[in-house]
Amino acid sequence: MSTPSAIESVLVENRVFEPSEATVKAARISGMDGYNALCAEAAADFEGFWARLARENVVWNKPFTKTLDESNAPFYKWFEDGELNASYNCLDKHMGTPNENKTAVIFEADGGEVTKTTYKELLAKVSQFANALKSRGINKGDRVLIYMPMTLEGVVAMQACARIGATHSVVFGGFSAKALQERIIDAGAVAVVTANFQMRGGKELPLKAIVDEGLSLGGCESIKTVLVFERTPTACNMVAGRDMTFTEALAGQSTECAPVMVGAEHPLFILFTSGSTGKPKGVQHATGGFVLWAKLTMDWTFDLRADDVFWCTADIGWITGHAYVAYGPLAAGATQIIFEGVPTYPNAGRFWQMIERHKCSIFYTAPTAIRSLIKSAESDAKVHPDASDLSSLRILGSVGEPINPEAWMWYYKNVGKEKCPIVDTFWQTETGGHMITPLPGATPLVPGSCTLPLPGIMAAIVDEAGHDVPNGSGGMLVIKRPWPSMIRTIWGDPERFKASYFPAEMGGTYYLAGDGAVRSADRGYFRITGRIDDVLNVSGHRMGTMEIESALVAKTDLVAEAAVVGRPDDLTGEAICAFVVLKRGVPTGDEAKAIAKQLRDWVAKEIGPIAKPKDIRFGENLPKTRSGKIMRRLLRSLAKGESITQDTSTLENPAILSQLGQAY
Ligand code: PRX
Repeated sequence: MSTPSAIESVLVENRVFEPSEATVKAARISGMDGYNALCAEAAADFEGFWARLARENVVWNKPFTKTLDESNAPFYKWFEDGELNASYNCLDKHMGTPNENKTAVIFEADGGEVTKTTYKELLAKVSQFANALKSRGINKGDRVLIYMPMTLEGVVAMQACARIGATHSVVFGGFSAKALQERIIDAGAVAVVTANFQMRGGKELPLKAIVDEGLSLGGCESIKTVLVFERTPTACNMVAGRDMTFTEALAGQSTECAPVMVGAEHPLFILFTSGSTGKPKGVQHATGGFVLWAKLTMDWTFDLRADDVFWCTADIGWITGHAYVAYGPLAAGATQIIFEGVPTYPNAGRFWQMIERHKCSIFYTAPTAIRSLIKSAESDAKVHPDASDLSSLRILGSVGEPINPEAWMWYYKNVGKEKCPIVDTFWQTETGGHMITPLPGATPLVPGSCTLPLPGIMAAIVDEAGHDVPNGSGGMLVIKRPWPSMIRTIWGDPERFKASYFPAEMGGTYYLAGDGAVRSADRGYFRITGRIDDVLNVSGHRMGTMEIESALVAKTDLVAEAAVVGRPDDLTGEAICAFVVLKRGVPTGDEAKAIAKQLRDWVAKEIGPIAKPKDIRFGENLPKTRSGKIMRRLLRSLAKGESITQDTSTLENPAILSQLGQAY
């Protein structure tokens, strides 16, 4: 494990931002007293606490009698004998209530067209799509791979799977054909739901062609159906017998479909994410715990009210888009905005203009987006938040990576006008929802700190042996007790699940997040300092260094060896830096440029454009110890442009450092 790679911050902001009296008064969890009371309830009766919340927040078709089963830890089971349906909890339960005709989704397309869908209409769409899936022979327990643009139809597909008890696995539309193929094989999917094209920044980009390519790479014989949403009028290749357009698939299907009740532990979805070793892991989530957490955290973290207009900008291809687009807002009965496009099209004021247009009151986005918009706003008044009326906003959120105090302060002042609390939510694909976050009507805010764990989340910072470290000294973030929305296993690989997340050295029951963290000496607030493993966070997207290395060395005609590390980047948080040894020696000048481009394109094809290394350095070999271990610590220093001050006497070839220190 390496030292935490904290995003370095220039600004030291020691101010504490207290919630206003009015906010505290109106909030669901009101003041630190409210927060402390919930924590005390969880501490006094852990299972009773969760049982109460699960009864109050989830509609059970059959009530559970046992809250938590720890007999086979770390394979925890929650509410196991209870039965429910996730889609029922998001849609049907609103029928016959004031939510029935409330707008569930305000969809704004890339080009600006706006469509509004009520809860009742959404239920009909989901039911109709569920019937289409059933008529293709897709049933409870089957896996459906979803490779869709950020459209209402993507959410409909997810909800429809949940409705019939099929397990969805959404793959972000920026992943390559090869990445798609690997995920289809790993999940054993029977169907793919996709679109002919996606619209991003005014451009029509292919999706179906990538699916075709992925399926042609082999091993995907399990796929019997490909359903294709006609996002644009442009035709795409269709394979007879296998492929069907949405129009064909939905024709004649009823808009009513009884939800299939499943056990609480039934896998709602698998979502692939990067680890420090090997191929991406299929993180498996359970229906009961996930639905509970999605609904509860909407209420707790965003203090949702009936008239809120909620907007989470995440894509459904990531966990944030699962919890806070596809499920949470619907389970909580919110009106939400779904945006297809990119924040910079047609101009970098798009987010602010949309907040004004739709009277958004809760806005939840990633620090990378904020950082890139700061740059544009500060150089062009027309796209500055001040150019839009943002008075509808009442709560701001941040997710996916540490938010540096500079970006926090800008967001607070320019977007929130110093009246909106910022909830800096720390969590992961594996946690299923928020873990450590301020509560808007309770927690005094400190820029750059995710503050305190949610009630019932037993977060701590420990050393390698699992012992608590004192406040002020850094260590590894763990969660000491299970929680309802936690990862259940890695799909098809329970041993890897145990080994990755529940280290034996810590007793085998502490969940190891993989992040370094430190608690402040005064308040005990958590600050995440970055991953402690070989996982990078680039623009809030998680990437494994090994995956990128494997992709590079798979270019067998060119590459002999490669090592990938991260370095801090002002805009993207971290940037990917690859050290490459070519079979043909060290290239220079234009040749080096051309080969670097070739390698970047190759990585984009193997994994996806998000994995393209920003820097590529060529060398005759890599810095290794005499026993052959690559010294990543040194590579990280080189990537940052630091001069090497560490002891290099154990290196086999110290001269390589000066060569790798230079960009071509
Ligand atoms: O390193 C942490 C960082 O993102 C990782 C999880 O990535 P992923 O599974 O893709 O989920 C991202 C969306 C929840 C974590 O291990 N991370 C996430 N949120 C924060 C964060 N780091 C600091 N502060 C956060 N608020």
